[in-house]
Amino acid sequence: MSDLITIAVPKGRLLYKIADFLAERGITLKEESRKLDYIDEAAGVRFLFVKNADVPVYVNYGVADLGICGSDIIYESDFDFLKLHTFPFGTTRICLAGYADKSHLYYQNADSKNFVEEIRIATKFVKFTKNCFLQKNIPIEIIKLTGSIELAPILGLSDFIVDLVETGTTLAENNLSVIEELGRTEVRLIANPALYKLNYKKMDELLERIKK
Ligand code: PRP
Repeated sequence: MSDLITIAVPKGRLLYKIADFLAERGITLKEESRKLDYIDEAAGVRFLFVKNADVPVYVNYGVADLGICGSDIIYESDFDFLKLHTFPFGTTRICLAGYADKSHLYYQNADSKNFVEEIRIATKFVKFTKNCFLQKNIPIEIIKLTGSIELAPILGLSDFIVDLVETGTTLAENNLSVIEELGRTEVRLIANPALYKLNYKKMDELLERIKK
């Protein structure tokens, strides 16, 4: 067991994309019922299924050698990692969104040199949102949520949200729209720097296989 490279992977829809990508390289990753790990003995890999936002925590504390997650999550974590690879899938827009008829609340601040009205933004990306609006010189109040962000403007908890928009279905089904694209996230393979130094030969072998 100790010879295996441990990789923390996020549960949810990104997992299927990761599994498909690895399958093409002969590495099996599959969820079996409620089991929280999966071992591909032949590939020398043990996968840990964790919450998306927790991937950096497992890697930072050395419980996992490697992790696969979005650059947004890595940025929010404040930990330092080796970024070994960027995957060719999972690039997603990070957007300011809300009711289209409220967009003037944003534009009147964005267009004016003077502060007009502080806007309330619900998001799980607190650091990103804070820095982004600081650069824009627009005062905001952030409400931190961890999921179902789209509910916030619907229920009047916030004026807008900053969230990932992939297909746009969640926004459309809730009558919300993109007001501005603020950035993009990419899916990355990260390593704990100390563990990588100790075991770089095996990790590089795996990396070569992944890069194929
Ligand atoms: C993410 C994101 C949006 C949705 C966007 O949520 O936070 O809600 O996906 O995807 P779409 O544009 O394809 O509809 P996720 O599914 O991770 O669930 P969450 O609400 O628990 O964050």
